[in-house]
Amino acid sequence: MLKVVVLVSGGGTNLQAILDAVDSGAITNTEIVGVISNNKNAYALQRAEEKGIPNVCVSPKAFASRAEFNQALLDTVDQFQADLLVLAGFLVVIPEMMIEAYRNRIINIHPSLIPSFCGKGFYGLKVHDAVLARGVKVTGATVHFVDAGTDTGPIILQKAVKVKDGDTSKELQRRVMEKAEWKILPEAINLIANDKITVTDGIVSLK
Ligand code: GAR
Repeated sequence: MLKVVVLVSGGGTNLQAILDAVDSGAITNTEIVGVISNNKNAYALQRAEEKGIPNVCVSPKAFASRAEFNQALLDTVDQFQADLLVLAGFLVVIPEMMIEAYRNRIINIHPSLIPSFCGKGFYGLKVHDAVLARGVKVTGATVHFVDAGTDTGPIILQKAVKVKDGDTSKELQRRVMEKAEWKILPEAINLIANDKITVTDGIVSLK
């Protein structure tokens, strides 16, 4: 049984997609053992609470320095003894020591087709604003392992989504979530839970 901790910052629709996929059997061999947010008002925490999943807020505001926050975040994660950490809209830079402790055991969902529209400053609606400003006709989402860079780790799954004329960034965000994120994030977890993924020299292949 893969023990998964989901890290969130906001609405938690990706968390909900994961919980629903566990319930429906689309994700097997997996238990969601905890949810961690950096933001106490994140609706994602309520979603976890409603499911009876242990949930906790670790806010940088509660600590005197970033180093103390980073240590508290790692300590909290460690307590769950998870096999996999899933960043589902977690808008905190993952500390280097956590990346080392959980190498190839942290995955992230990003709302574009990496390597486009990713890296520092590209998160949430800003990604879709940039997509619309550039006028690309296809965007999408990517699930990848997390390494020391921003959105640079091995790519697990991607799914393309059409940009429509006249889209607002909110409309585009919603379409990317519905058609791509809520599908490929649960799918990636299921692949990992069933030992279907290998990573060789930074490249993911499916067994
Ligand atoms: C999602 O669109 C996710 O891809 C994005 O934040 C949103 C969270 O929504 N993540 C990033 O931009 C990370 N760089 P949710 O809280 O409803 O799942």
